[in-house]
Amino acid sequence: MNLKDLYISFFESKGHKQIPSAPVVPENDPSVLFNTAGMQPLIPYLMGQKHPYGTRLCDYQKCIRTNDLDVIGDTYHHTFFEMLGNWSLGDYFKKEAITWSFEFLTKVLNIPVERLAVTVFAGNETIAKDNESIEIWKSLGIKEERISQTKDDNFWIAGETGPCGPDTEMFYFRSNDEIPAKFDPEDERWVEIWNDVFMQFNKKEDGSVKDLPNKNVDTGMGVERTTAILEGVNDNYLSSIWKDVIELIESISNLPYEGNEKSMRIIADHLRTAVFISADKSGIKPSNTDQGYILRRLIRRAIRHAKSLGIDINSNWEEQIAIKIMDKYEKYYEEIKENRNTVIEVLKTEKNKFNRTLEKGLKEFEKITSKLTNNILNKDDAFRLYDTYGFPLELTEELAKEKLIEVDVEGFKEKFKAHQELSRTASAGKFKGGLAGNSEVETKYHTATHLLNAALKVVVDKSIHQRGSNITDERMRFDFNCDHKLTDEEKTNIENLVNQWILEGLDVVVEEMDKNEAIASGAECMFIEKYPDRVTVYSIGNISKELCGGPHVKNTSELGKFKIKKEEASSAGVRRIKAVLE
Ligand code: ALA
Repeated sequence: MNLKDLYISFFESKGHKQIPSAPVVPENDPSVLFNTAGMQPLIPYLMGQKHPYGTRLCDYQKCIRTNDLDVIGDTYHHTFFEMLGNWSLGDYFKKEAITWSFEFLTKVLNIPVERLAVTVFAGNETIAKDNESIEIWKSLGIKEERISQTKDDNFWIAGETGPCGPDTEMFYFRSNDEIPAKFDPEDERWVEIWNDVFMQFNKKEDGSVKDLPNKNVDTGMGVERTTAILEGVNDNYLSSIWKDVIELIESISNLPYEGNEKSMRIIADHLRTAVFISADKSGIKPSNTDQGYILRRLIRRAIRHAKSLGIDINSNWEEQIAIKIMDKYEKYYEEIKENRNTVIEVLKTEKNKFNRTLEKGLKEFEKITSKLTNNILNKDDAFRLYDTYGFPLELTEELAKEKLIEVDVEGFKEKFKAHQELSRTASAGKFKGGLAGNSEVETKYHTATHLLNAALKVVVDKSIHQRGSNITDERMRFDFNCDHKLTDEEKTNIENLVNQWILEGLDVVVEEMDKNEAIASGAECMFIEKYPDRVTVYSIGNISKELCGGPHVKNTSELGKFKIKKEEASSAGVRRIKAVLE
């Protein structure tokens, strides 16, 4: 059995129920782009809400951390990783949590006690030292000199506010050196593998700390790190989690891992993360904002490292690697099994887009940097690399750093903002031109596109979004992402659903709000960056909500009968529907 299976069955034997991993994109928390810890999807329950599975839970949660992408390429950082966790929601507390952690480490994973050490909370101005945990560890056989106390590193909170509490962290001595009698958490040979957090407080925005309704336990153990330790390797990428992926990259590039570690690790890491983002039910696609931008950066950075290894970037190298990764994970994650084609398509489309300009962009970069006199790449050049050659700013920075050149990041950002204003004005102008003389018929078609957008999500796939539309007095055209030709049945169901909504006479309601608030409320939009900070949001009954300039009819009963005339391919991964209102 591997680590995940061992963990789950151990905690099931202690009365825990396994809960499924939440999607990598949080479903109810617009304040973070990705889930960064196992506890994140459980916040409402740590705050006191009743969990349908009871008070003892365990899982493996997909996590993504992108705050320090720069460090990827070393032996143990990953953008995507899996976190094992067990939770008590007002059930057991310190004694059971620590005792079971110890039992799992020493009896199930067979880690010798001599290789273990722990840290506990030393106490601060408001919260007392955690003597209880110290006594429990000692009673289990952890010697006093292997217990270290800290104030700041042993109080855990995700971000600035919310459930939090003192924690106790477990460390493993990962080295062939003689194990020192006394534990020093600053000594890098001691690697943290598990964290038991005793969540009994709630930190408010004003900085005050109040008791939570329950005393909870939240634990987290990194799968990659612990697997490497158990397999006795000092480089995570040599463990069974990565080994075959690295071997595949060696064979595709015809180069050995040794000497090429950094690029190979980046390719493996970034493609694995891209696989999980693309397979996620949120349906994220590469774009220039938020999660879509992270996805774009990861894929483009992987491509540039593949190119640096001499891989033919126009071959299907990324598909081979993605398939290898998906083969490893589909047993654990339904969405990987279900969305294999989507993942491959996302990677391929983004690759093709970037490959068209990468070569020229790299040449341009060389040209720019060979002429520099002050080791600073200016904002205009950085912006040109972005706008014309599709180089994410961070990629330009990475290339520059390798030549000890700095990029005028602030200048770039100013330019970027000015450019956005410009395209916003342009699109607003266009909108006005297009819809100013809008006929009544066109207004109806405009509302019908919102209904069609909503119906496609219900009938075909939740991850469908608008990719474009065009309206005349005679018909509407609507482009959307979709990986297949719609079947006759799908088309009929879509028509029926739209017509049902028309017959229901749903009100069309317009509201003005802040862009962020609109997005947080779940409103859909095509090019978020093209909208000003205050936006109008049109809702139709409770079936559709979109950022949109309008105008629209007041009630769907005004629309007439909706009929699809044609469904065809528009471009790769994009389908087009032509429809009329009769
Ligand atoms: N939430 C704790 C962590 O992520 C367990 O370390």
